Formats: sequence, structure tokens, C-alpha cells
Amino acid sequence: MTVLDQLFDAARTAMAKTHSPYSKFPVGAAILTEEGKIFTGANIEVVSFPEGWCAETTALSHYVMGGGGRITDICVTAEKLDECTPCGGCRQRLAEFAPADARVHLTDQRGITKTISMAELLPLGFKTEILSQ
Ligand code: THU
Repeated sequence: MTVLDQLFDAARTAMAKTHSPYSKFPVGAAILTEEGKIFTGANIEVVSFPEGWCAETTALSHYVMGGGGRITDICVTAEKLDECTPCGGCRQRLAEFAPADARVHLTDQRGITKTISMAELLPLGFKTEILSQ
């Protein structure tokens, strides 16, 4: 099994933990770092709808709390949608931690079907040094 197969499996396993009783739209995400660590997440919804959040955001929180590292690959999977792309907010959140050349893998339920870069996922994303000085 290749590391990308493992990443896809991790995203699918995470998706099974979704809490999405309102949309009934399970999503899973998995982040791979250079040192081989995988951090995963599922979408978590709340009855007050805007308070829920995406699978990518759950995965990023595990990534941060687990010590981070250089992100090389991200995989997003959704049971009901082939090649489910991260929402706008998650693109910005992912770009906070993933370099422009990190690979973003989209899937169907059998495996990865399309790969793009972070730069392609979020062209012209908001970035400035001023806020971190
Ligand atoms: N969702 C994600 O988890 N990631 C995405 O990239 C797109 C949307 C979730 C949010 C919500 O729980 C459900 O999918 C339907 O929008």
C-alpha cells in the first residue's frame, strides 16, 4: 500500500466519524507531513447551523495540536460527491499551514482521482507580512 493509499484510507476512516445529522453529507480529510505523520478530521455540525465546521478544519486542529510539521499532501473525500473540493474558508485555513506546492488530492470512493497544488486550490489568497511583524 502506498502512502497515498494510506492517506485516502485515513480520510475515509475519519469520514466515518462525521457528525452531520443535518446535511447528511459526510466529509473526511487527512493531512500528511514530511515526517510521515497523518492528521485526520471529519465535519462536525451543530443544530445552530453556522456553528458547525468542516472536515479540513478538524484535521487542521489535530495537525496543530499534534505538533504540526511540513505539510506535503492533503486528501479530502466525501461519500456523496466525487472530487469534493475544500470550501473557501478551508482553503484559507489550509493555506495558513500548507506550502503552495503541497498536493491536494480529490477522490471518489475508490481512491484519488485528481491532484492539484495548494497554489491552484487558492490562487491570489490573502497573505501579508504586516500582520506578523
Ligand atoms: N464540508 C466539509 O466538511 N468540507 C468541505 O470541503 C465542504 C463542506 C461539510 C460542511 C457541512 O457539514 C457539510 O459538508 C455540508 O455542507
